[in-house]
Amino acid sequence: MTFLRILLPLVFFVSFTGFTAAQDTAGDTTVTAPGHQTLEDILARQRGEDVPFGAEIPLPQTDNGAPAADQLGTLGGASDSELWREIRADEATAVVASNNGPAAKVLMQEGGMWWLTFREGPLLTYGGALLGGTMLLLAIFFLIRGRIKIEHGRAGVTIERFKWIERFGHWLIAVSFVLLGLTGLIQLAGRKLLIPAFGHEAFSTFAIAGKWVHNNVSWAFMLGLIMVFVMWIAHNLPDRTDINWLLKGGGIFGKGHPPAKKFNAGQKLIFWSVIVLGTSISVSGLSLLFPFEITMFGPTFAKLNDLGIPQLLGFGPIEAALTPQEEMQYAQLWHAIVSFVLMAVIIAHIYIGSLGMEGAFEAMGSGEVDLEWAREHHSIWADEVESEQSKAAGKTQPAQ
Ligand code: HEM
Repeated sequence: MTFLRILLPLVFFVSFTGFTAAQDTAGDTTVTAPGHQTLEDILARQRGEDVPFGAEIPLPQTDNGAPAADQLGTLGGASDSELWREIRADEATAVVASNNGPAAKVLMQEGGMWWLTFREGPLLTYGGALLGGTMLLLAIFFLIRGRIKIEHGRAGVTIERFKWIERFGHWLIAVSFVLLGLTGLIQLAGRKLLIPAFGHEAFSTFAIAGKWVHNNVSWAFMLGLIMVFVMWIAHNLPDRTDINWLLKGGGIFGKGHPPAKKFNAGQKLIFWSVIVLGTSISVSGLSLLFPFEITMFGPTFAKLNDLGIPQLLGFGPIEAALTPQEEMQYAQLWHAIVSFVLMAVIIAHIYIGSLGMEGAFEAMGSGEVDLEWAREHHSIWADEVESEQSKAAGKTQPAQ
């Protein structure tokens, strides 16, 4: 009995306080919203049609959700349009961030929409077309010309073309570039092509692994780029033999190849494409790897405006006062566009260095090439090597 005497008032007290609390919520803090809101109504208003709002109705209150009037409460059909307008226009004074980074308080970047649509649309379409078109042209070229053979057959004697350190530098840049190209394409085409094809889960694994590879292998590419530049720049300075080589189309069609030193004009073009485009890809890649640290596009646009270049081409001055997000967006587009161009160049290079030409791969494989191959493709260089070998062997043989 004593127990009941204690329990009953307690039960009464608890239910009474609970009841009054519910009464309070339903009383003063009731939130209302315009009635008869349907998705069709909202879409019709967005199209500019005049759809009248219904009478104000109270929003439903749930027992387990935050009260509608609270700061984080569910507003249901009601929307604070003014707040969203401010957020979209980057004018919301209510946004507070503990991070003082340049982009910390930007919750929505209206100007980024063109970048997003360009990245998913034309960039992917034209970039893919460039790579596909290059492969198609090479396939047609192969069908017409076939493999470029050593015309007079192999001499059976080899000479050294590249030392081990040169081959190491080449394969460092080659393997890293292929990995970077593939993982970069995975990131670019993910949402548009790979998720629809493989699903979110499979793509997520690809994307996480691909991003890790892309970020870390980039250092190997940059190291390879520096090595190749230092080792081969002396052989890639343009000279008179290049003009003759280019005028004769490198002897790609017909018999015989124009005289060339260690690298012919076609290879010099490949070398400078790798150096110039590879450097540009590296710098824009670094600005993506360290967000908001490297500002390249605003100052470049200002310089171009000062030089009057956009005006000369019939455009107005380019907007040079870029937000930090716009800087990143331009860096991403530039990184991808230049990479597409270099990928196309490298696809052609890989073709000619392997399937397209008999005897070429050995130069980067063992480092030794057949003497007859060297005489046919790099006659001036082959003469130099032969005369050096003769000198070393104690014989004197005049250089041709
Ligand atoms: C992955 C397949 C590749 C193959 C089979 C390949 C093959 C070759 C061969 C055989 C040479 C020597 C040509 C000669 O002796 O005259 C060479 C040179 C060269 N490679 Fe590659 N390469 C590949 C990828 C790359 C990549 C990805 C890059 C740069 C991003 C690159 C950059 C160069 C450069 C700059 C040269 C010197 C200039 C030239 O010969 O065109 N290679 N490559």
